[in-house]
Amino acid sequence: MTLTKPIYLDNAATSHPKPEAVYLAVMEALRAGGSPGRGSHRSAMAAEHLVFETREALAELFNAASSDRFIFTHNATTAINQALFGLLRPGDRVVTTTVEHNAVTRPLRELQERGVAIVKVAADPVTGIVKSSALQEACLCQPTRLLLVNHCSNVFGSIQPIEGLGRWCHDHGILFMLDGAQSAGSVPIDFQALNIDLFAAPGHKGLLGPQGTGFLYVNEGIELVPLIYGGTGANSHSDRQPQIFPECLESGTLNLPGLAGLSAALQFLQQTGIEQLRTRELELIEKICTGLKNIESVKLYGSDDVMLRAGAISFNLTNYDPAEVGFILDQQEQISARVGLHCAPDAHRTIGTYPTGTVRVSPGYFTTEAEIDHFLQTIEKLNDKKLKS
Ligand code: ALA
Repeated sequence: MTLTKPIYLDNAATSHPKPEAVYLAVMEALRAGGSPGRGSHRSAMAAEHLVFETREALAELFNAASSDRFIFTHNATTAINQALFGLLRPGDRVVTTTVEHNAVTRPLRELQERGVAIVKVAADPVTGIVKSSALQEACLCQPTRLLLVNHCSNVFGSIQPIEGLGRWCHDHGILFMLDGAQSAGSVPIDFQALNIDLFAAPGHKGLLGPQGTGFLYVNEGIELVPLIYGGTGANSHSDRQPQIFPECLESGTLNLPGLAGLSAALQFLQQTGIEQLRTRELELIEKICTGLKNIESVKLYGSDDVMLRAGAISFNLTNYDPAEVGFILDQQEQISARVGLHCAPDAHRTIGTYPTGTVRVSPGYFTTEAEIDHFLQTIEKLNDKKLKS
């Protein structure tokens, strides 16, 4: 297999490359013009249809009860903010974990200032996994409005064992929200089977769509106060925000080229199959983890069980600052990896890598074996250099 540089191992930040059809769809939508819900001429109607089809494809992928409860956003962060600020009021209580991304930690911190109680349940310092029983115990201490869990860590890739948690929450009158930023598109997720009330995800990571896309799923029966008010294309006569989904939470012109790209990406996922994508991801994770474990001065973080991991793999090398490793990988070998705290300082505190963080590599569906071999050889060389010096 021939090796083509540069080597992109930062799919946890955004997937790259995208399927070819994604680039073409973005271009086609830009050229076609038309804004969904704005006008009844043919290009507006075609745009509206494209958005509808994208919602339908998401509903199918995640086995959601209805497609109109998918709200398009700019990214997972906007989706999380819409969910939290739309739902929580002073006096509410939220149970969450110590492995959350700042997209969750920061809005929760702001809400705490406004009178919302926040309880963070500690994850295991080695695996990064939080026991369901610990989450349940924390929820039962006092009346709780929301249980919010990071499905898969963007730092060490640990997948939280969420099976049964949604059902348990329903039985106890608690809403169940999943941050699917690192799992959507990588791990099979069934909203109905998991009893998910709220789910936020970007379109540009595991779902393989363009940046600037994301969504929030809001289960039937949950009403959220909008973050943004404005034109929706519906009920134009009224100065009140429409109440119907999805318009009530989608003010302003949608990112149609982005959604066209996301639609093409979802078709790619459907044709390839999430199981197939997951199998490929597991092969790559296994290869990277095994390779890293065989290098003397590498400390690898996260679960030993590959099945409990998704794309993000964090490690450190004795005697190296992660920033130095990232610099060498990029400047000398054209290998793109993300180093530091990954916008998730709590997760790093949990595994003891705060404040310098880790070196994180995240392969994607299009990563080749040769690329991984080259990455591992580079780390081996760094290891030898320091051990001999
Ligand atoms: N949250 C993204 C990352 O982990 C951007 O890199």
